[in-house]
Amino acid sequence: MKLLFIGDIVGVPGCQYVREVLPGLLRAFNPDLVVANAENAANGKGLTRKAAEQLFDAGVEILTLGNHAWDHKDIFTFIDEDRRIIRPANYPEGTPGSGYTVCTVRSRPVLIVNLMGRTFMQSLDCPFREVDRILALHPHIHHIVVDMHAETTSEKLAMGWYLDGRASLVVGTHTHVPTADERVLPGGTAYITDVGMVGPSDGILGIDRETVIRRFITQLPSKFAVANGPRQFCAVLVELDDATGRARSIERVYIAEQTPAPGVQARRRDRDVSSSLQE
Ligand SMILES: [Fe+2]
Ligand SMILES: [Fe+2]
Repeated sequence: MKLLFIGDIVGVPGCQYVREVLPGLLRAFNPDLVVANAENAANGKGLTRKAAEQLFDAGVEILTLGNHAWDHKDIFTFIDEDRRIIRPANYPEGTPGSGYTVCTVRSRPVLIVNLMGRTFMQSLDCPFREVDRILALHPHIHHIVVDMHAETTSEKLAMGWYLDGRASLVVGTHTHVPTADERVLPGGTAYITDVGMVGPSDGILGIDRETVIRRFITQLPSKFAVANGPRQFCAVLVELDDATGRARSIERVYIAEQTPAPGVQARRRDRDVSSSLQE
């Protein structure tokens, strides 16, 4: 079973780039399930019905969220009904929506769980105890994907090791910058501290850099807008054993529009998909 997990999709540029890039990736890699973090899909903050439908139309099958889940009020009109969209499971009891979902892939159930870290973030319920509770509810499911949406590398690594041998894949999201530590842990859990984002490369985490720099310098509030310009696409491609759910491999997928200046070495392309994208 092959899974493609796409990092935080930022605004219209991110959604548009998913629509441009994903068809070629589906042809090249033929994943059985495509999951994406969509907490920034609506203009950088939150998720609208329109953005969700665009991503589903492009081939994404499950959307996870994060701390920006509630930033666009549109979410409250569909999160209770649409089981393809999940928000962090460790929000307090009574929060709209669900923190996990089960879908069928290659005739097998796959459990997808969304969690949020607590370090330098909101003080939600404990994500470690919450994931234990969710896994205990699904003892017969072996294919388990966990999106650990968190600020600190240590909290994401802690979740990866905590779930080693119990989850198929633990990916970090939220920080928008891909990390180079993808690996299969000894117990058979594929792990990466952050998948990265899909959005404008020359902003700051996808946001217009001038406004972000000004806020750092002046410490005054400023309204953030999604950046323009060249875009990047960050994901991981994971292969799981059909019978056991154990991960066999995890690879980063990184595509960028940015053309390097003459004499400057191009950024590493972790998987050369350019030929498939030109079809
Ligand atoms: Fe994000
Ligand atoms: Fe986030």
